[in-house]
Amino acid sequence: MKVYNLQENISPIIEDIKKKGKSIGFVPTMGALHKGHLSLIEEALKQNDVAIMSIFVNPTQFNNQQDLEKYPRTMDRDLELLKTVSDKIIVYAPTVDDIYGENIESAHFDFDGLEFEMEGKFRPGHFDGVGTIVKRLFEIIQPTKAYFGKKDFQQYRIIQKLVENYNIPVSIVGCEIYREKDGLAMSSRNERLNPEHRKASPFIYKVLKTAKEKFGTKSANEVTDWVESQFAEHDLLELEYFIIADEESLKTIHRKSKSKSYRAFIAVYADDIRLIDNIALN
Ligand code: PAJ
Repeated sequence: MKVYNLQENISPIIEDIKKKGKSIGFVPTMGALHKGHLSLIEEALKQNDVAIMSIFVNPTQFNNQQDLEKYPRTMDRDLELLKTVSDKIIVYAPTVDDIYGENIESAHFDFDGLEFEMEGKFRPGHFDGVGTIVKRLFEIIQPTKAYFGKKDFQQYRIIQKLVENYNIPVSIVGCEIYREKDGLAMSSRNERLNPEHRKASPFIYKVLKTAKEKFGTKSANEVTDWVESQFAEHDLLELEYFIIADEESLKTIHRKSKSKSYRAFIAVYADDIRLIDNIALN
């Protein structure tokens, strides 16, 4: 498996692939790989001539310095895991310097309001950081298709908006959420949960599934009140937000319309670990 740490080394490889007319499937990640990430690269391998994964803990998308410092960095294990999928995967694992030089800052983006909802409210600057790194990576890798998990649904929608606004010639593929057997959405953060909180956290998906059932007959406000009451009674999990939103605009809904697609979004603290999840409602 080929691993490149510098743009100047991977760029000639990309040029060569492009010259041969081959398609590139690209999966950007921050490493600490799990089966959710692997499901994305498997899709990329299936649908393209070449599959490339980037592994880069992007400093500009962390609004909390402690979260950045504590983010797991497990490069050797990540590469071993990738090899179990295919040793043909190309890895781009740049240094911070290779991406940002001396100016570790994000650009400012207008995502037509998508950036002000949910995660945007609770993690100021986060999506400017995501936009900056993904745009940069698209410039370097020049993918035909790029794969994003619906685990981070708002991010997936924002990347769709990014390529639309900047006319970037890449198609964005949304991939389903990969879960642990007990329903907890896979996340690099799950490793940091202590046993007690790990045991409690499948409650999040359980509540989402019941919320979906209730949404069939109840209003968005009634379902939201019910979810909030479930967490108010919970000793170990603290609800940050639960929102029912339109999949297109990501705006919280107050009245249902048959022609629209809705999704429930949730963010929960398990001790100091922040977990997010979502579910399609109709
Ligand atoms: P990261 O959290 O490492 O996630 C990389 C990709 O894997 C994202 O598209 C994410 O949605 C997807 N993913 C994570 N958990 C998943 C799961 N359980 N099921 C399916 N897909 C899952 O998201 C980022 O990194 C960064 O913001 C990045 C886009 C790389 C920019 O830095």
